[in-house]
Amino acid sequence: MAPKPVLNLILMGPPGAGKGTQAKMLVEKYGIPQISTGDLLRAAIASGSELGSKVQSYVTSGGLVPDALVLDVLLQRLSEKDCQNGFILDGFPRTVGQAEALGQALEARKMRMSAAIAIVVADAELLERLTGRRICQSCASSFHIKFSPPRQEGICDRCGGALLQRKDDTAEVISHRLEVYHAQTKPLIAYYQERKIMHLVDGIGQIDVIFGKICAIIESLRGLDSAQITR
Ligand code: AP5
Repeated sequence: MAPKPVLNLILMGPPGAGKGTQAKMLVEKYGIPQISTGDLLRAAIASGSELGSKVQSYVTSGGLVPDALVLDVLLQRLSEKDCQNGFILDGFPRTVGQAEALGQALEARKMRMSAAIAIVVADAELLERLTGRRICQSCASSFHIKFSPPRQEGICDRCGGALLQRKDDTAEVISHRLEVYHAQTKPLIAYYQERKIMHLVDGIGQIDVIFGKICAIIESLRGLDSAQITR
């Protein structure tokens, strides 16, 4: 019997590039879970857990949480049943160390990444995107006061929850997050280019148009080399 197709994706890009927005749309289309390390870390902080207290200062200041802590969280999540048929990594890996650890962990499970997709957006656009972002406290849907406003101000279209601004979406913290991205995460584009799984997508334009480009990449993987999406 042919092996079951598996789609293991990395969505990369600077803060505010649209990783979370696109990942949620991919979840609906492909039925595989979004694994956002940022969401997992914020949930740990909100729960008041020991992990949450260890990571809080990094997340609120826009620095990177130490690799070992993030890896624990990520690998635990990847071992859950809903990841068996694929997953979308949103915000992981962010350092070469994380990428190497991910590669080793997948190899040990006889798995591999299907593709890394980087959403490319210039820094100048990102500040406006992030300062205008509002997140639903109940269902985590993301809106923008100008680019994708909710029908009713401050209220989530999908579940009626309250829309709030993230603590790290201030101009000062955004500027630090961008510095960290350029110094530590952007080099992963070359890392995955060397491994021949990197795809760049222009992240300026309408959300649906960008989604179409990402889906075209995924469909080309299926068409050109089904082994790449097969465990
Ligand atoms: P994380 O939560 O991952 O934040 P991030 O990478 O900074 O990314 P964002 O969530 O801010 O942006 P996004 O690309 O998802 O954009 P979105 O779709 O929301 O990480 C937060 C922190 O956690 C880190 O700083 C770090 O401390 C820690 N952390 C997480 N992972 C870690 C790791 N692996 N290692 C160590 N530390 C880690 O869109 C942004 C806005 O723009 C929205 O309002 C949206 O509506 C709008 N928008 C989206 N697309 C468009 C478009 N095409 N045009 C106009 N507006 C758009």
